[in-house]
Amino acid sequence: MEQLVDPFARRISYLRVSVTDRCDFRCTYCMSEHMTFLPKAELLSLEELDRLCSAFVRLGVEKLRITGGEPLVRKGILTFFEAMSRHLASGALKELTLTTNGSQLAKFARPLADLGVRRVNVSLDTLDPAKFAEITRWGRLPQVLEGIGAAKAAGLRVKINAVALKGFNEDELFPLLDWCATEGHDLTFIEVMPMGEDMTAGRLDQYWPLKDLRARLAGRLTLTDLAERTGGPARYVRIEETGQKVGFITPLTHNFCESCNRVRLTCTGQLYMCLGQEDVADLRAPLRASPADAALDQAIRAAIARKPKGHDFDYSRQKVQGQITRHMSHTGG
Ligand code: GTP
Ligand code: 5AD
Ligand code: SF4
Repeated sequence: MEQLVDPFARRISYLRVSVTDRCDFRCTYCMSEHMTFLPKAELLSLEELDRLCSAFVRLGVEKLRITGGEPLVRKGILTFFEAMSRHLASGALKELTLTTNGSQLAKFARPLADLGVRRVNVSLDTLDPAKFAEITRWGRLPQVLEGIGAAKAAGLRVKINAVALKGFNEDELFPLLDWCATEGHDLTFIEVMPMGEDMTAGRLDQYWPLKDLRARLAGRLTLTDLAERTGGPARYVRIEETGQKVGFITPLTHNFCESCNRVRLTCTGQLYMCLGQEDVADLRAPLRASPADAALDQAIRAAIARKPKGHDFDYSRQKVQGQITRHMSHTGG
């Protein structure tokens, strides 16, 4: 089967699948306080999601990341992981993983590990319970820490994702780093992207360029650049003093679109070819039009042929440019 290659000769091997737009938190940079969610009838069924993801796997996707909203609040989610694990067993899929807020991990970590998940990315911007409640609007930190503990106990590798926010978690850089070193978790920092119509929080004021964060780390510790990649956008360093791995996701200061290998599927069957662009291809219509896969495969190929070069996010002129009104939660990052 001919693989998926876009107009810029980038092979598409990584699919991010948002299985629900709902979330039990409302992180301020991701959702607005009063989100309206899709009626359940709008969602693709788990069987339809299975068929769509399986089409991508047939076309050469090797890495599947399940996202949301919060993926673990979707009813029947383990059935879906079980369905996807058959692609691990066949060898077609190299990695089946998820990005989660951790709130449900205490319950789900063990069954996920049993289904072949090896790694989990957990969003955690602060270790201060009051600040955690502020950024998530009501999340309980102990519940998330318990979930992360359960993931570790189940043998899952944990990567903590922290959005770098000026005036919010600058002073938590070293506490987060120490905690991850003690617990054996990888840590990745992310530059805040201008997405969502609710920009009142002042995205530009919050923007903390990761080159500044990195310089602060390097002032106290020895950083060695690592060539290793996970198939995602992060670039990694090793901290020589502790041996731990720290990643940087820098859409603003160091655009990584030229090596982009991914597209994003929403829970209604819309395919976003780029996180930072509005263009979207409907895969639900061809999915439902026929039980045969030829039309679906063709629709996927046609969508990939439209993949743009990259995003236009930019804060460099002291104003927000390339902003996308869609909330990050729509595609799960
Ligand atoms: P790994 O498999 O651990 O490398 O995961 P990942 O970084 O691909 O996924 P994760 O869900 O942990 O995403 C972390 C952050 O990277 C989120 O804020 C995503 O929105 C962001 N991200 C992932 N892919 C892209 C991309 O193609 N473009 C941009 N601008 N951001 C991305
Ligand atoms: N900018 C950068 N990262 C974001 N995330 C959510 N919203 C934003 C944003 N505006 C991150 C979450 C999670 C991942 C899926 O996306 O923290 O780790
Ligand atoms: Fe939920 Fe994740 Fe968005 Fe926070 S970042 S509101 S946890 S989907």
